[in-house]
Amino acid sequence: MSISQNKFINVSDCTIIDLPKVSDSRGNLVFIQKNSPINIDIKRVYYLYDVPSGAERGGHAHYDLYQVLISISGSFTVHLNDGFESKSFLLNRPDLALLIGPGIWREITDFSSNSICLVLASELYCESDYIRDFNYFMQLRRDEKPQN
Ligand code: TYD
Repeated sequence: MSISQNKFINVSDCTIIDLPKVSDSRGNLVFIQKNSPINIDIKRVYYLYDVPSGAERGGHAHYDLYQVLISISGSFTVHLNDGFESKSFLLNRPDLALLIGPGIWREITDFSSNSICLVLASELYCESDYIRDFNYFMQLRRDEKPQN
């Protein structure tokens, strides 16, 4: 696992992606397939569910990992921070995905009852890819040299 800050992205790179939806009188179907519309190689899928009211998830960043978060049921709020800028996203529809990449601190709050947070991840689980200390994270990001 490389510890390379040059992969770090900014909050402005973390975008909402509209997922293709097929709707008819029987309901809705959303699909994600290789490179469309999410341009990461998906190596792992996990989901958060039965999150108690008031509980918070996340509270970390990653060195290398890209992730896509989707609220496939209910809603929750994702707070992102790149050390300089922060932004919050309400995910409340199964046809919206939020892309998060390396160097982004994330916290997930305000889970509604019966919410499910589906996560598509670009790498297998690897604890050494986590940055779990917020002060260390801020120091890493603030120590980055300007790009030009
Ligand atoms: P963590 O990523 O910290 O959860 P969250 O960001 O949702 O709060 O993971 C919680 C625990 O689960 C931690 O002990 C690592 C473990 N875990 C795995 O074993 N495999 C996985 O794919 C993930 C995402 C976590």
